[in-house]
Amino acid sequence: MQSRVGALEEGKDPGATTFKTNHVRALPLRLIQFLLMFVVLGIGVSILSMHTIRYFGVQRMAPTAPSTIKPCFAEPNSLESWIRAPSNLLHSMNDTELLWLASLTPQVKEYPFKRVPKIAFMFLTKGPLPMEPLWERFFKGHEGLYSIYVHSLPSYSPNYAASSVFYKRQIPSKLAEWGEMTMCEAERRLLANALLDISNEWFILLSEACIPLSNLSIVYHYLSRSRYSFMGSFDEPGPYGRGRYNERMAPLVNLSNWRKGSQWFEINRLLAVKLVQDTTYYPMFRDFCKPACYVDEHYFQTMLTIETPHLLANRTLTYVDWSRGGAHPATFGKDDITEEFFKKITTSQTCLYNNQPTSLCFLFARKFAPSALEPLLELASKVFGY
Ligand SMILES: *[C@@H]1O[C@H](CO)[C@@H](O)[C@H](O)[C@H]1NC(C)=O
Ligand SMILES: *[C@@H]1O[C@H](CO)[C@@H](O)[C@H](O)[C@H]1NC(C)=O
Ligand SMILES: *[C@@H]1O[C@H](CO)[C@@H](O)[C@H](O)[C@H]1NC(C)=O
Ligand SMILES: *[C@@H]1O[C@H](CO)[C@@H](O)[C@H](O)[C@H]1NC(C)=O
Repeated sequence: MQSRVGALEEGKDPGATTFKTNHVRALPLRLIQFLLMFVVLGIGVSILSMHTIRYFGVQRMAPTAPSTIKPCFAEPNSLESWIRAPSNLLHSMNDTELLWLASLTPQVKEYPFKRVPKIAFMFLTKGPLPMEPLWERFFKGHEGLYSIYVHSLPSYSPNYAASSVFYKRQIPSKLAEWGEMTMCEAERRLLANALLDISNEWFILLSEACIPLSNLSIVYHYLSRSRYSFMGSFDEPGPYGRGRYNERMAPLVNLSNWRKGSQWFEINRLLAVKLVQDTTYYPMFRDFCKPACYVDEHYFQTMLTIETPHLLANRTLTYVDWSRGGAHPATFGKDDITEEFFKKITTSQTCLYNNQPTSLCFLFARKFAPSALEPLLELASKVFGY
């Protein structure tokens, strides 16, 4: 047995065989014949084993080749495995890596598979979602048309039931401060994570104080048929608009294209990729738009107005009440929740939808206190249609 293993090794190395033959010349003929038999046998075994390795080796390297033998080493690398949404939202990428990955875009415009475009609901929160039961009702029965992403303070660990739509929808998060660049970074982090699912086509940013004013069928219809993305963007004279512009941003950003708008946006995939891949405007806004310039009201609004003005509706879909004055909008509690209150929101304004006037201007509203939840659940089916 031992000599056969030795011969096998010799067989792989012709030099070694020659050496052995010279060395044993003085031995009796019988013994030489006997040894030669082993050498020949060894070469035979070694050729056979090389063949075997090559055969199975090929099997292992090309598992998609038609074959009756199922490879047990790796899964077949089908298109499905590339386009499948990540099942686990937790990952070990840092922001540089994540934004890079999220910016990858197919160049062939036709998908070679059935792609049902989804809405990505991106919740930018501090911690818990007090309106969770309302959202659960909103999403119920619409599986396959939406996906959910939650960014919260890193110290918060959520505790959703396995049956909740928010279960394991947390993305790796960092501290985000009001009016600071870290807020825009959190928004880009949400966008980037949502972009990793190739089916996500529309991206809505929401907070824990937001509620949906229509059911998901209406929202889906509204977004999927719109020619424009709903980024609030306007030119406001005075200290809180143009007054926040810093001349050091010129010539990239000048006063005439400086914009202000609500932080709460809805954009399509094309614009989402633009925002995550941006390295031009980012340093400019990071360095020259610091409080009292609130960067989340200017960065995306101004950048997209310069880059893709023809794709913007210039209005937000999220209703908010600034009429009470001050730096923060009104918060609505239990006593505010009436049918008339919502009728006012949904009918008192007109806006343009695909260049046509409509009274359906808002699909979401804020800010709602936790105490509003119970009356909202009571009204939801009658007033919101879910
Ligand atoms: C992320 O990691 C890469 C590779 O190690 C590094 O070059 C990059 O600077 C990191 N980015 C951040 C934001 O830490
Ligand atoms: C501002 O920038 C736009 C393009 O970004 C340019 O067309 C315009 O002439 C600029 N205006 C001034 C006053 O520099
Ligand atoms: C939004 O504003 C930009 C300029 O800021 C303009 O070019 C665009 O036409 C506006 N969008 C709509 C739908 O009016
Ligand atoms: C959504 O709401 C609209 C208007 O309230 C209603 O007509 C429709 O039946 C609702 N759709 C579903 C699936 O509940």
